[in-house]
Amino acid sequence: MSIDIRGVNKSFGDFAALTDINLAIPSGKITALLGPSGGGKTTLLRIVAGLENADSGTVSIEGADTTNVPARKRNIGFVFQHYAVFKHLTVAGNVGFGLSIRHRPKDEIAAKVNELLELVHLEQFADRLPSQLSGGQRQRMALARALAIQPALLLLDEPFGALDAKVRKELREWLRELHDKMHVTTVFVTHDQEEALEVADNVVVINSGTVEQVGPPATLYDEPASPFVMGFLGEVTTLGGQLIRPHDIVIHTDPRPGALAGTIVRAQRVGFEARLHVRPEGAAADGSSDVLVNLTRTFARSLGLHEGEQVWLEPEDGATTLPAAGVSASGRPAPVLGSPRREGEDVAGSLTSKDVAGSLTDCRCDYAPGSVRLHGSGCWLA
Ligand SMILES: Nc1ncnc2c1ncn2[C@@H]1O[C@H](COP(=O)(O)OP(=O)(O)OP(=O)(O)O)[C@@H](O)[C@H]1O
Ligand SMILES: [Mg+2]
Repeated sequence: MSIDIRGVNKSFGDFAALTDINLAIPSGKITALLGPSGGGKTTLLRIVAGLENADSGTVSIEGADTTNVPARKRNIGFVFQHYAVFKHLTVAGNVGFGLSIRHRPKDEIAAKVNELLELVHLEQFADRLPSQLSGGQRQRMALARALAIQPALLLLDEPFGALDAKVRKELREWLRELHDKMHVTTVFVTHDQEEALEVADNVVVINSGTVEQVGPPATLYDEPASPFVMGFLGEVTTLGGQLIRPHDIVIHTDPRPGALAGTIVRAQRVGFEARLHVRPEGAAADGSSDVLVNLTRTFARSLGLHEGEQVWLEPEDGATTLPAAGVSASGRPAPVLGSPRREGEDVAGSLTSKDVAGSLTDCRCDYAPGSVRLHGSGCWLA
């Protein structure tokens, strides 16, 4: 079931939650809506589901405009961001709920519920209450419930958001396998880039109510369209005026033509990685120009790297880079106001209330809808 979203706008009062969204969601694939909190992901999903009306624009499902089709007639399975279970019904009762209200025969419901509980590996818990399940089990139950009505479209809003990292990882592998068996067109909201890159065929990056980029995971990672996308999909740093990923930097212990000379000012071990902060020669002592370099601990050990040592840095061949103009040296992406401006400068007019809906960091700014006054060297949207 393909979905075509054209020119969708949605405001809550004077706050624009979605601005001119145009998006084609392919049939039979998993599409991830990825973006920071407050970006508009849930709002967009609710509009597709018919639980919310767009102010303007259209959503077509399989080529047919759905504007006047109520949610219950859209044949959509929905798993909400926050658990929505019927506490007084057993697991089997929850899974079969959609079929019961459609007055399906009892034996058909029982057979379907059994099939689904096996699929989500909960067959032994059919008679339990949801409160007697773990968080991961409850989310699998919610998925089975959404699948029971044989939806043509499955919408999942942060289905694993409330779970710990290990369970999330297991469930996302499981979701991918489930999808490969069932091929239901699935739209899946997450703010976790690893989850999106691992599970989805297609990723839509949404920020501040607009679509930043759409593409398969590898394209987004290798060819980000903006500093925001690059920074959202992984860590970035700045090397010689270019944004680059810290593991795409080659480090040498002897001078190389064209390489940037610097000193290791900090070396950390995080799991299998060594993270080095390299201060370029003549750079500010406050660390604002430090280049972050990530390498495996084995490689770091083989070079014998340590704090205080002089090194030379260059981008690896084929590394993804973007011009860093207007991006802070720490690699913080998506400057709201472009390159640093004069302290106290009034930049009214260049921002809308939507721009400042996220959290502004790295600056001391007074901001009100439509106007921002800076008291620092830059202003960045987290
Ligand atoms: N019913 C509402 N009334 C007013 N504002 C709303 C309403 N629903 C959402 N918003 C606002 O719209 C913006 C987008 O919200 P939305 O829930 O779509 O974000 P999200 O991307 O799903 O975020 P999260 O990752 O935190 O779930 C937010 O700033 C939110 O405060
Ligand atoms: Mg949300």
